[in-house]
Amino acid sequence: MTRQATRILVTSALPYANGYIHLGHLAGAYLPADMYVRYQRLKGRDVLFLCGSDEHGVAITVSAEQEKTTPTAIIDRYHPDNEEAFRRFGMSFDTYSRTSRPYHHATAREFFAAFHRAGILREKEERQLYCPKDSMFLADRYVEGTCPVCKYDKARGDQCEQCGSWLNQVDVIDPRCKLCGATPEVRLTSHWYFPLGRYQARLQEYIAERDRRDGWRETVKRYCDSWFREGLQDRAVTRDLSWGVPVPVEGYGHKVIYVWFDAVLGYITAGREWARDRGTPEAWKAYWQDDATKYVAFIGKDNVVFHCIVFPAMLMAWNDHQADQYVLPENVPANEFLNLEGAKFSKSRGWGIDLRDFLRFFPADYVRFALASTLPETKDSDFSLKDFQSRINNELADIVGNFVNRTLAFTARSFDGVVPDRGPLNARDREMLLLLQQAPTRIGEMYESYHFRDALTETVAVARAANKYFNDSEPWKTVRSDRPACATTIAISLQTVRSLSILFRPVLPSIASGMARQIGDTEEAVAWDTAGDQPLPAGRALPTPEILVSKIEDQAIEKMMSELSLTSPSAAPAPMPEGLISIDDFKKIALRIATVVSAEAVPKSEKLLRLIVSIGGEERQVLAGIAKHYSPEQLVGKQVVVVANLQPAKLMGQESRGMLLAANADDGTLKIITVEGPIASGAVVR
Ligand code: 2FM
Ligand code: ZN
Repeated sequence: MTRQATRILVTSALPYANGYIHLGHLAGAYLPADMYVRYQRLKGRDVLFLCGSDEHGVAITVSAEQEKTTPTAIIDRYHPDNEEAFRRFGMSFDTYSRTSRPYHHATAREFFAAFHRAGILREKEERQLYCPKDSMFLADRYVEGTCPVCKYDKARGDQCEQCGSWLNQVDVIDPRCKLCGATPEVRLTSHWYFPLGRYQARLQEYIAERDRRDGWRETVKRYCDSWFREGLQDRAVTRDLSWGVPVPVEGYGHKVIYVWFDAVLGYITAGREWARDRGTPEAWKAYWQDDATKYVAFIGKDNVVFHCIVFPAMLMAWNDHQADQYVLPENVPANEFLNLEGAKFSKSRGWGIDLRDFLRFFPADYVRFALASTLPETKDSDFSLKDFQSRINNELADIVGNFVNRTLAFTARSFDGVVPDRGPLNARDREMLLLLQQAPTRIGEMYESYHFRDALTETVAVARAANKYFNDSEPWKTVRSDRPACATTIAISLQTVRSLSILFRPVLPSIASGMARQIGDTEEAVAWDTAGDQPLPAGRALPTPEILVSKIEDQAIEKMMSELSLTSPSAAPAPMPEGLISIDDFKKIALRIATVVSAEAVPKSEKLLRLIVSIGGEERQVLAGIAKHYSPEQLVGKQVVVVANLQPAKLMGQESRGMLLAANADDGTLKIITVEGPIASGAVVR
């Protein structure tokens, strides 16, 4: 069901350089891609792994306007930081390019001009939204309104974040100008259109064929089918903007190429740049223009239409008219979304954990391990700090780290740190060896078929079996009663450490290389196919054991929560509406008016205030994450709304019995919900 190839091209979606990489991004297009690439390289395959910053489009100009600066200042701030964060996270890109470079402008113009010359693009005058106050056409994200498909009320002019629809801005309901809030008017403007509809039949055939050959994800096929059912339409590929790649057509120099048209070509630029920088300017062609290459494009679900439909159509159009032929994606293993503590990551609502921040507190491999165990491969999944802590403590430390550690400690203690000779094998030994022998192929198939979460589960299962093997073999007893049997147990356990040091490499590059170091292996010795049956040479003296994984204490989590803006559950944005609730459901929540009796700061917390509120004569302690937005004095005497029947929670060691309602204002400050006039405390809110 998957096509094997010796040369593989891998791309991860180019993130916009207008914000920091957060855990949600990683779980979508980055960690799975890196696991895949690391696995394929261990298999000895020739892999080129490309990524870079997406630096055009309204995502960037809107950020610039919001931060009262220029687009260049925005991208120059985020590009290097994101590149560095990816590096520290262990992303093994061969190149991390940027689309603002002249080299990329050349690629985008080359494609656009070729399409124009070949008569593929059509010029049309169409209705577009124009803001009379700002005197400009409102491209893409300059428009906000209600999605015509799912009715989400913060859909952007080009795309709905909620349902992933790619929109035509004139279809957006109740459009508003993102800059000034005014209702735009409809005016005519000329643009070049790419005739996507003409490629529909070929695209359907292309996806069906690649699916047969390489097994596409059901979710991805479903998105594509719904596009096909609606029928593909012509799409404008130019915009009335000044930030972007200027359109290489006479009379159009003041307009730019649509950001998605240029962004997907950024992958090609990245390959060309890689080749140029290593002094072999033609080398990129072996990856991009050779049929034997397997191209896999990793993305998040909101990018499906651009990678499964738009980009392939562009490449088909190119291949139809040019001598050099590009490869099309063999597979597009898009992930669904990762939520954080039940709510969607959102830059605009300030809800997320930046990778940079996270890495200040925990090693990259811990994040990789926890994310890999909860990758949203078939449906949205959730990341919570509790879960993170328990994955690391109960699996990575207790199972993986513990096995490696006890094996090495035992070797040091009872065999002077020297790999012992293996004696005769009993049934249990043979069973363990068989498991090791089968692991690389079994787990390898999961990587080949893009089941990364399963691949990790199975790898952890090897370590779990190894712990059981160690326990059942009782080397601490046989060391006295049957020394050859003990030596065999330890030799096999050390061999298992070697297997694990290879099998874990795609997920835990640095811990795995620590394992290899501990058994005296060099990096060159590491190849996937040898993970199954390579005993360590008897007599090898091992270095002094070191601890590779340590558990995460509650305080470490609390420290991070209090230093990042994640302290209090009341600061979390509400989850997206997910279906309706009945009035009875609503009545389960005891909303009450409460009067703030006293307020004070919580020691060592930047975010928390400790409030005593009175609810109808009863006084309660409530902790609220509002210290950055209110001083204690401002709150005393205020009447607020609390959830009175919330399960008590402990925050920074203090009990909180109830939750204050609050909402984020547009500028990010938190405002508590107060009441209009004096009301008896304890009154029911309904
Ligand atoms: O959704 C995004 O973040 C886009 N910047 C992804 C672009 S992927 C490719 F087209 F470059
Ligand atoms: Zn929608």
